[in-house]
Amino acid sequence: MPSDTSDPMTSTNIILEGRDLQKTYRLGNVDVPVLKGASINIKDGEWVAVLGSSGSGKSTLLHLLGDLDRPDENKGSVHYKGEDLKSFSHGRRNAYRNRDVGFVFQFYHLLPELTVLENATLPGFVAWQGSRQVTGDGMERLEAFGLGHRLNHRPRELSGGERQRVAIARALINRPSVLLADEPTGNLDEQTGEQILDLLAAEHQRGLAIVMVTHDHSIADRADRVVELHQGVLADN
Ligand SMILES: Nc1ncnc2c1ncn2[C@@H]1O[C@H](COP(=O)(O)OP(=O)(O)O)[C@@H](O)[C@H]1O
Ligand SMILES: [Mg+2]
Repeated sequence: MPSDTSDPMTSTNIILEGRDLQKTYRLGNVDVPVLKGASINIKDGEWVAVLGSSGSGKSTLLHLLGDLDRPDENKGSVHYKGEDLKSFSHGRRNAYRNRDVGFVFQFYHLLPELTVLENATLPGFVAWQGSRQVTGDGMERLEAFGLGHRLNHRPRELSGGERQRVAIARALINRPSVLLADEPTGNLDEQTGEQILDLLAAEHQRGLAIVMVTHDHSIADRADRVVELHQGVLADN
């Protein structure tokens, strides 16, 4: 037996890490610090909920983790599979946003002029510049999500729960390792929200890591682990 008792998995199986993240918004002449050194680790395949009140910076944190926004200059870093996003080339960084992580928003953000199938497959065409595989995958997933009869409908013809299922299908089209979900049930009634959480749980069972932010304790409890965002920092719950 090796004498080293440290578990090599504890450091190597962290898929996504936010390290000492600081983010300040400027409103007029006033600096508004939102994140003040927030750190978070997500292990491969883990479901982590970030619980915080409205305005606590949950969306800001998720945007930094997904590289939709950046921390203050030299104030923290995001690491994917141990690599600092800052070390990525421009192209690799675009690929990170498009393929390695998937994003789900409270208000779905579907494109109204595209069909359900077109919405769900769009990031696949961005990644691979078009292939029958993408369309086939998209159809298969939408069918699995109970939307097989809706493929050629527009988002406005769908219920909120159906729209969110399309948005999740879109987020998963490029088979990301991590799904970043920003209050994914926040605009849905309780029963429909449960269905969306069941769907996320099923994807998690298949190995997807999830970072889900919410202000609702009962929703956070669906995760493997809950961390709390309070006054700009994260603490284990
Ligand atoms: N682009 C922005 N410019 C200025 N202030 C912002 C911006 N985005 C968010 N904020 C402010 O930062 C704080 C945290 O926002 P947010 O991350 O959206 O919180 P949460 O998602 O927890 O409700 C809020 O006070 C919000 O008004
Ligand atoms: Mg928010």
